[in-house]
Amino acid sequence: MVIDPMSLDHSAQQAHCQRTAALAVELGRRAGVAAQPLTHAALLHHSLEPLSHSSGLGRLAWQVLAGDDARRIADIVEICNLLDEQLEALEFEYKEVETILEEIQSLAPLEGFDPALVEHLRDMRCGEFSDQLQLPVEAGAARLVFRSLSAPREYEIRELEAIALRDPVLAGSLLGVANSALFGRGRRVSTVGRAIASIGVDGARKIMLASAVRPLFASAGLRRTWSHSLSSAPLCSALAHHTGLLSADEGFLFGLVHDIGAVALQFLPRDTLDTLRKLVEGGCPPAYVERLLLGSDHGEIGAGLIAQWHFPEEFIDAVRFHHQPERSSSKLVSLAYLAEFWSGLDEDLPSFGRVEACLDCVGLTLETLVEIGSPDSILSTLKSVA
Ligand SMILES: [Fe+2]
Ligand SMILES: [Fe+2]
Ligand SMILES: [Fe+2]
Repeated sequence: MVIDPMSLDHSAQQAHCQRTAALAVELGRRAGVAAQPLTHAALLHHSLEPLSHSSGLGRLAWQVLAGDDARRIADIVEICNLLDEQLEALEFEYKEVETILEEIQSLAPLEGFDPALVEHLRDMRCGEFSDQLQLPVEAGAARLVFRSLSAPREYEIRELEAIALRDPVLAGSLLGVANSALFGRGRRVSTVGRAIASIGVDGARKIMLASAVRPLFASAGLRRTWSHSLSSAPLCSALAHHTGLLSADEGFLFGLVHDIGAVALQFLPRDTLDTLRKLVEGGCPPAYVERLLLGSDHGEIGAGLIAQWHFPEEFIDAVRFHHQPERSSSKLVSLAYLAEFWSGLDEDLPSFGRVEACLDCVGLTLETLVEIGSPDSILSTLKSVA
């Protein structure tokens, strides 16, 4: 397949205009400016001359689009354009969001926009959130299962059976998979021990780990994230095994929990959650919006939450920076980024630069990454019985 760089440029610019429009509508809502002309002006801002430089037909175009509010609309679009450019540039130079807002505000005299409008971006942000974010109560049960089953070693059927019999969710998943089309060719299996024997110890252990985490992703808004986590687990396992950076078992666990920070976001204050949802629906990727509103993305939040799950420090770091690989020199972080990129839900801005740097860091090629990303039949079956 030949990719036309001009068409890539064009679609990147369209995505930038779309994000600028989503930000402008949110800022406008707080500044009392109507959404529709803001959206039009933001979507067309690369075709329009800046209002401050335009005269004649250029000024007329602004008047047609924005009416009497042309000045404020031009200001809001300009601020949101600068904000999106700065958030795009974070992969080259990390900055706190507050620093970005200060820099934008300092450009006001030069660019001629109203610096007070930047305050509305500050109002959008949720300052005191970290104390409120926790995992739901189901995390306690998941933590116990992880503690028993996360060590990379051989397991016995009896051992798995004893754990599964303590938890109806785990027992039910094992029986569901054992009696599914993939395994249930003979008599129906009705005991947990037989279910484990029929699936095999390795597969049964994976199913138990996945089933322990699944209740955390039970809310309607997290179904896609859960399905993506299940698909990521075998890919991370294969990548870990191929590169030798983690055991295949640890890679599998990484895939299951890498987006666990997204689970905690449902406990954000309602107005922050509403703003987050609107910006994502408007075309801004979730991790981008999280950084803007919270100062951290779900990777950083998730790392803080699983810090007590007895994972090695490097593993927790890979969760922390799986969307910002340039902030760590760890190869595992690069591997985590590649796994996210390959199985991703468009969780962040696309970046060929990051993909290339991460491939380089772990000594992989894009072709190898494609070859390694194979489906896992046991997990597909678990998806169907879930
Ligand atoms: Fe722009
Ligand atoms: Fe993620
Ligand atoms: Fe992810």
